[in-house]
Amino acid sequence: MTKTKIAPSLLAADFGNLQRDVEMVESSAADWHHIDVMDGVFVPNISYGMPVIKAIQKYATKPLDVHLMIIDPDRYIDSFAELGAASLTVHYEACTHLHRTVQAIKAKGMKAGVALNPHTNISLLEDIINDIDIVLIMSVNPGFGGQSFIENTYQKIKSLRELIKRKKASALIEIDGGVTTKNAKQLTDAGADILVAGSFVFKSDNPTQTISDLKKAADY
Ligand code: DX5
Ligand code: ZN
Repeated sequence: MTKTKIAPSLLAADFGNLQRDVEMVESSAADWHHIDVMDGVFVPNISYGMPVIKAIQKYATKPLDVHLMIIDPDRYIDSFAELGAASLTVHYEACTHLHRTVQAIKAKGMKAGVALNPHTNISLLEDIINDIDIVLIMSVNPGFGGQSFIENTYQKIKSLRELIKRKKASALIEIDGGVTTKNAKQLTDAGADILVAGSFVFKSDNPTQTISDLKKAADY
């Protein structure tokens, strides 16, 4: 039975052929489009913003999973809702009033996600876990695709699984950064529900096949 969701990260797509790459994801075994928004302040890189997401949305029917690596994300919640985001993930480290931000995202009808940087401890989610739909564990430092996977991630997934169980919460666990067919199974065994993969998919010779391979490896 296949259960793990695969979310190709369009950060690694060919922006000169964005329509082609979005359509490739659409016709593949992928479940969500993962969309990385970077502001050059929270992370040392700038990716893309509203006009590009609008172009993606034009060719997408699968859910848009938007990952905000920006400071003060509250300012843009309405805009991302209008762009049709199915889930909106903000960084724990970027939100002073995380509970308020999460409520505002849900009030707009989107799934609310919280992302944790590699150094941020799972225990900090104790008082918010029942309010959120997704926890995104960064398995690289946010800002760039193509980095190597941080091994401590497995331990974090297990701690988060325990927390979710203990609190009787239902948040999904999403892993982002350095995901390949080599670590997919170990990630799902540890408790991951969603795997994001950028360069492993888009830099491969046959991205459609690679997405299927990832799904197979994850649920093996
Ligand atoms: C990194 C982004 C990721 C990135 C993953 O800050 O959040 O979504 O695109 O890329 P890979 O899979 O190449 O590590
Ligand atoms: Zn991401």
